[in-house]
Amino acid sequence: MLDEIKPPEEQCLSVDGSRRDFLKKSAVAGAGVAAIKLGGAVPLVASEPAIEGGIPVEKLTVKLNINGKEHTLPVDTRTSLLDALREQLEMTGSKKGCDHGQCGACTVIIDGRRQLSCLTLAAMCDDRKVTTIEGLAEGDKLHPMQAAFIERDGMQCGYCTPGQICSAVAMLEEARNGEASFVTENINAIPRGQKLSKSEIQERMSGNICRCGAYPNIVAAIEDVQAGGAK
Ligand code: FES
Ligand code: FES
Repeated sequence: MLDEIKPPEEQCLSVDGSRRDFLKKSAVAGAGVAAIKLGGAVPLVASEPAIEGGIPVEKLTVKLNINGKEHTLPVDTRTSLLDALREQLEMTGSKKGCDHGQCGACTVIIDGRRQLSCLTLAAMCDDRKVTTIEGLAEGDKLHPMQAAFIERDGMQCGYCTPGQICSAVAMLEEARNGEASFVTENINAIPRGQKLSKSEIQERMSGNICRCGAYPNIVAAIEDVQAGGAK
C-alpha cells in the first residue's frame, strides 16, 4: 500500500507529464517574465528551449551598452546583469556579495540611477546605458569619488568599494536633482543642488554594507566630493 504512494513532487508532476516537460514549461514561462522590460520588446528567440546538462535553457540576444561600448550577448533569460558582467564580459569590478539584494556590493549605474545588478536581469538592460566601476575613470584620471576614497582611506579589504563608489556617484546626482531621503526634513521644499548633511549621506548610502566598517571614511570621502563639486 505504502509503495503506491508517490512523493509529493511526482504526484504533482504526474498530472501533467514528466519532470522534463514540467521544467521545459517553467523555462518558457521564465522567458515570458524576462521579456517584460522598460522601453521595448526583447528579441526572444527559440520557442523550444535547448537542453544543457539536463536543464532547459531559453536564450535570447541582448545589446548591452556598458561604459559606452556596445556588447551583443546571448544570455539565458534568467541571467542577472551581474553574472553577465562578471561571467560573460569578464568585467569583475562589480562584486557579488550576497546575490540577494542585501549588501550593495554589485551596485552599478543604469541610465543614471544606481541599481543592484544581482537583482536586475540582463534581458532588462537591452539598449540601456550601464556604467560600472570600470567606466568611471577617464583613462588614467580617476573619477573624483575614486580619488576621494583613496585619499580618505575609505576601504579596508576593498570588496564593497566598487559598489560604494558607484552608489555614491549616483546618490549625489539624486541629491542634486532634489530627491528626498527617509531623513529629509521638509520634502516639500528640497532645493536643487542641496548639500547633504552627514546623516543624509549615511541614510542614502545605507544600502551599501561594509563588513570592514569603513563607514566614517566613506562618508568623509563623499563629503569631500560634495564640497568640491563632484561631477
Ligand atoms: S550582491 Fe547584489 S546586493 Fe549583494
Ligand atoms: S572595505 Fe571591506 S567590506 Fe568594505
